[in-house]
Amino acid sequence: MSAQTSTVAAGRDLHWIEDHAALLDDPHRLQQVRDNIAAGDIYIARRQFAPEFLEELREYLTGVGRGSLPNYVPIEAGAPNFHRMNRNDSRAYVPGCFHQFVFFPWNQDPFDLFTVCASIYHMKNCLSGLPPGSFLGARPQDGCTARLAFQVYPRGGGFLNRHADPVDYHQLTVPIMQMSRKGTDFHAGGLFVAMADGRDLLIDDVAEPGDVIYFNAACPHGVAPIDPDAPLRWTTFAGRWMLLFAVNRLAANTAIGNAVRVG
Ligand SMILES: [Fe+2]
Repeated sequence: MSAQTSTVAAGRDLHWIEDHAALLDDPHRLQQVRDNIAAGDIYIARRQFAPEFLEELREYLTGVGRGSLPNYVPIEAGAPNFHRMNRNDSRAYVPGCFHQFVFFPWNQDPFDLFTVCASIYHMKNCLSGLPPGSFLGARPQDGCTARLAFQVYPRGGGFLNRHADPVDYHQLTVPIMQMSRKGTDFHAGGLFVAMADGRDLLIDDVAEPGDVIYFNAACPHGVAPIDPDAPLRWTTFAGRWMLLFAVNRLAANTAIGNAVRVG
């Protein structure tokens, strides 16, 4: 079985993908999953990445974050990988407070991230009705590119306001990988997604590090403040970590210019 329904209260809204590779090879099941996500259901694929790999990534990015200045770079063809802070920036398209590390497919990186993450992008593209390898090339495609964004919501109040992301030809879902464990890395707050019946599903209460979550980007979602009573110390990089598997339009192709986009 490639995907299995689980129970959340009385809903049919949360499903577990037991075999990610098998689902990718099953067009009939993919169509069912696509329809369910379009209708507002949420799917979680367990343990797509090993805890040791996540630890290595966090350690590397923490070193980069501490050892170099954060700066924003627009999403343009050939843009460098970069990291930046958003400390409740009034220019942001969605108010938030987090540190972000961004990678593009045309740059090389020590982990070969776009190869390591290929199966997740293939699933994202298939769920959007696109060829699996879309947007992963060294040049933008149809004015869009894949973009990996690690987001660190710091203890002491990291957050992202409730919002919806654009659903268009380039994507139905923006998969998220969990990289932290609630109860260990932080205690209060976390990712929520509104389900079809209007309730919020608290993803951090059900998903573990390495799990990948697929949901309709048009469903309102956000990050409730992370340990708001703790002191905010950016350079510790302590808090809630996640990885977004994004596809973005290039800055020149968006009305808002992507100047300070957050997703
Ligand atoms: Fe979002």
